[in-house]
Amino acid sequence: MKIFITKKEIKSYLSSLKEQNKSIGFVPTMGALHQGHLSLIKKAQQKNDLVVVSIFVNPTQFDKKEDLINYPKTIENDTKLLKSVSCDVLFLPSVKEIYADDISSKKFDFDGLEHQMEGKFREGHFDGVGTIVKTLFEIVKPNKAYFGQKDYQQLQIIKKMVKKNRLKVKVKGCPIFREQDGLAMSSRNARLTDAQRKAAPFIYKTLKKVRKKFGTENATIVTEWVENQFKKQPLLELEYFTIADKKTLEPIQKKESGKKYRAFIAVFAGKIRLIDNIQLKN
Ligand code: PAF
Repeated sequence: MKIFITKKEIKSYLSSLKEQNKSIGFVPTMGALHQGHLSLIKKAQQKNDLVVVSIFVNPTQFDKKEDLINYPKTIENDTKLLKSVSCDVLFLPSVKEIYADDISSKKFDFDGLEHQMEGKFREGHFDGVGTIVKTLFEIVKPNKAYFGQKDYQQLQIIKKMVKKNRLKVKVKGCPIFREQDGLAMSSRNARLTDAQRKAAPFIYKTLKKVRKKFGTENATIVTEWVENQFKKQPLLELEYFTIADKKTLEPIQKKESGKKYRAFIAVFAGKIRLIDNIQLKN
């Protein structure tokens, strides 16, 4: 596996491969890699000649300094894992390499997608995501880029950014990878205490019940039910639960036939914030 830390080196290496018409699959990450990331890499390997993974803990997408400081950093283990799955290229830039002396985000207009859910609770988050993903796309110039559906809103926002900026990359959303007990895989799970880890699968259990209930009940009743369920969970604090239009991400007003909905949830286990979502049938 080739490892590059400067833009100049990776660009020059990849441009020679592009001249040979090799297709590039790209998996941007913030490290602390888990099976979910490896599943994205596998997908990328199936569809491209070579796979580039980036590891960069992007400071501009964290709304809380504490969260950035505590974000798990496991670079040695990550490198070993990437080698074990035959990743071709790892891009591992420093903050200075990406942002020089101006660690700030560009402002983006994602046609309103950015004002819902995560956007309401994490100020500036999606400007930070847009800034880094666009920068990485410009450096790597991938044919296809792979993102997990756990961050479903992020995925829609990246698709919008690509469309609006007419970037050539195809953005692929991949299914949520779960632990055996249903907890969505996340780098943040490593920070849960044993008790919090035991409590956390309740999130997906609740989402599965939501899917059932939404078949017969309206969104307000389902939402109240979820809020009550979490009141009984001493280790989990519900930040939001929303049923939203799958495309616009606007909260549902009234079920409409022909529209597809998804349920979205954010929960705190102590200071650790966990998100998840599920496709609904109506
Ligand atoms: O989903 C993530 O890990 C990050 O938001 C991403 C897409 C790598 C951008 O920093």
